Formats: sequence, structure tokens, C-alpha cells
Amino acid sequence: MKTLKVTFAGLFLAAAVAMAGEKPSADHIKWMKDLAAQNGAIRKGVDVEKNAKDMQATLKLVGAFWKTRNSEVASKSCGQSYKGAAALVEAGADKDKQMAAMKMIGGGCKGCHDAHRVKISDTENEIK
Ligand code: HEC
Repeated sequence: MKTLKVTFAGLFLAAAVAMAGEKPSADHIKWMKDLAAQNGAIRKGVDVEKNAKDMQATLKLVGAFWKTRNSEVASKSCGQSYKGAAALVEAGADKDKQMAAMKMIGGGCKGCHDAHRVKISDTENEIK
């Protein structure tokens, strides 16, 4: 009887694992933390041009990772944030252009998160 219970517990566990998202690699988590830091600095107006360029570099890594996954949403979202970062560099001191560029950046983050991010706790996220 005990063995049977253990077997069932094992089956449930296997099913739960199969349904859950995929654990992101340490690299992926780092890229996201970098993007968040760059985005935060940009919003505060700190080293905007440098952070926009760093963001483009980070997004290239993110884009290369997602390219292998054949997700149109992910590739488009990466491209959108990337274009936003480029537009921000172009914007210079023009506030309206800066705002538009930041919206473009944020839209890319949101687009991919809506499709591919699963929040599993307050501190942990997975890929779906
Ligand atoms: C191509 C898809 C994609 C894009 C674009 C993207 N993200 Fe993410 N992001 C994810 C996925 C998937 C996760 C969940 C897995 C993880 O945490 O690595 C995530 C998680 C995060 C996290 C939580 C990291 C953690 O500690 O686990 C932050 C913060 C974040 N993203 C910020 C951003 C910001 C800011 C942008 C835009 C500048 C952005 N992301 C753009 C896919 C994306």
C-alpha cells in the first residue's frame, strides 16, 4: 500500500513538472536583470544614451536566444524594444521623442512577458 502511494505521488509530480514552465538559465535571468536596470536608469534620466546602447547589446543576446525558439512574438518584441532603444539615442533632448521611445521599449518588454513569462512566486519567473 505504501509503495502504491509513493508511485502515485511520483506520477503527480511528473505531471506537475511537465505542465510547469521551463526554468530560465542563469544567463537569461541576468539579461532580464540587466534590462530592468537599464530601463530603470533610463526612466530616471541617468546616463540615458549609455543605458540605451547597453540595452541594445543585451537585447541582441536575448534575441539570439529566442531566435532558436521560433517565437514570432518574442522576436518582434525584442525588435520593438531594440528599436525603442535606438530611437532613444536618436531622440537627444527632445522630450516627446524620448517618451515615444520609452513606450516602444516598454511595449517590447510587455509583449514578450505576456506571451512567455510565467510568474511562479514573487521572486521567481519561468519561461513558457
Ligand atoms: C523576448 C522575450 C523578452 C523580452 C523582449 C523581455 N523579456 Fe523580460 N523576461 C522574459 C522571460 C521569458 C522572463 C521569465 C524568465 C526569467 O526570469 O529569465 C523574463 C523575466 C524578466 C524579469 C524577472 C527576472 C528574474 O529575476 O527572474 C525582469 C525584471 C524582466 N524580464 C525585465 C525585462 C525588461 C525591463 C525588458 C524590456 C527592456 C524585458 N524584460 C524584455 C522574456 C523577455
